[in-house]
Amino acid sequence: MATMRVDGTPTRTIRPLANAQAVEIIDQTALPHEYRWLRLSSLEAAAQAIGSMQVRGAPLIGVTAAYGVALAMAQGDDDASLVVAVATLAATRPTAVNLRWALTRMQRCLAPLPAAARAAAAWQEAARIADEDVEQCRQIGKHGLQLLRRRAGGRGRLEIMTHCNAGWLATVDHGTALAPVYAAFDAGVDVHLWVSETRPRNQGLLTAWEVAQHGVPHTLVADNAAGLLLARGGIDAVIVGADRIAANGDVANKIGTYLKALAADAAAVPFYVAAPRSTIDFACPSGAAIPIEERAADELRIVHGRDASGVCGQLRQLPAGEDVANPAFDITPARLVGALITERGCCPASSEGLLALYPEERHG
Ligand code: MRU
Repeated sequence: MATMRVDGTPTRTIRPLANAQAVEIIDQTALPHEYRWLRLSSLEAAAQAIGSMQVRGAPLIGVTAAYGVALAMAQGDDDASLVVAVATLAATRPTAVNLRWALTRMQRCLAPLPAAARAAAAWQEAARIADEDVEQCRQIGKHGLQLLRRRAGGRGRLEIMTHCNAGWLATVDHGTALAPVYAAFDAGVDVHLWVSETRPRNQGLLTAWEVAQHGVPHTLVADNAAGLLLARGGIDAVIVGADRIAANGDVANKIGTYLKALAADAAAVPFYVAAPRSTIDFACPSGAAIPIEERAADELRIVHGRDASGVCGQLRQLPAGEDVANPAFDITPARLVGALITERGCCPASSEGLLALYPEERHG
């Protein structure tokens, strides 16, 4: 059963309209103020949606890119069009490896086919990737719930902290880090979620909006409150998602994740990372090799919100000339990660741990 519900209505975060040669996505730049869907009808629109973070979250970026290839094949199905489509989409965001994973899969599927067969095959393959994402996230929820139950022991309430948005908004359904939280809530566990704002893009506000749709009790905190909350006691586990997991278990995730991992380590609180196979980069030896996206300075200079009369707008909080750095991700070393939660189960954050779950990746 779907986890994602908005105003009680189950749906997915991306809806193919194959007959109309289009897909619909939730415009995440409008949330939490406005819930609106956006139709993407071309390669260019798909690339723009990913780059501007109208769609965001590593698994959903991958699925959107797959549909972006399908949109491109409807525009032109020769070899050159396929190469351009893959290159255009690959250039949108550098850190989340799901994007490249999905594009490689699309290219492998389509390149050997006659041009005339590519458009239909592309829709089918993109749909398969989307369906697999749903099932993998559901499995992550199941395995993560077992970990959480062990943390809960005989006590009453389970206090979980997360960072960024790794819920259904970041995937096709269920989410990664939030899948175990939803699974716990649905199983009747008394669970409460601590959600950090996640400046500068405030994905934590998306998390708060999303879990509210499901009725999960939660509290929003400033990013800087996490250290205090962890040190005080009362948090049972931190669960975050990932944009890329290197072969040695190092994790790239939204900026601020590393600080939470350090604080969790200092407070002896387990720190878990939940992600599907498409986020694991076996070709990347360690976190040092993961490219960190540097985003526009205006993401820090300008804040978005809604005024008292309900009108959405922007407010400049820094002069245009103020020097700003805006790295969007950081690396949490494997030694700080208590376990990786994947669709195949949980494992230590190490090359041996990963290879035990994915033995087909052992070479030589
Ligand atoms: O920059 P974003 O919002 O696309 O960031 C990616 C993420 O959503 C997070 O880093 C998340 O924790 C991992 S993706 C499920």
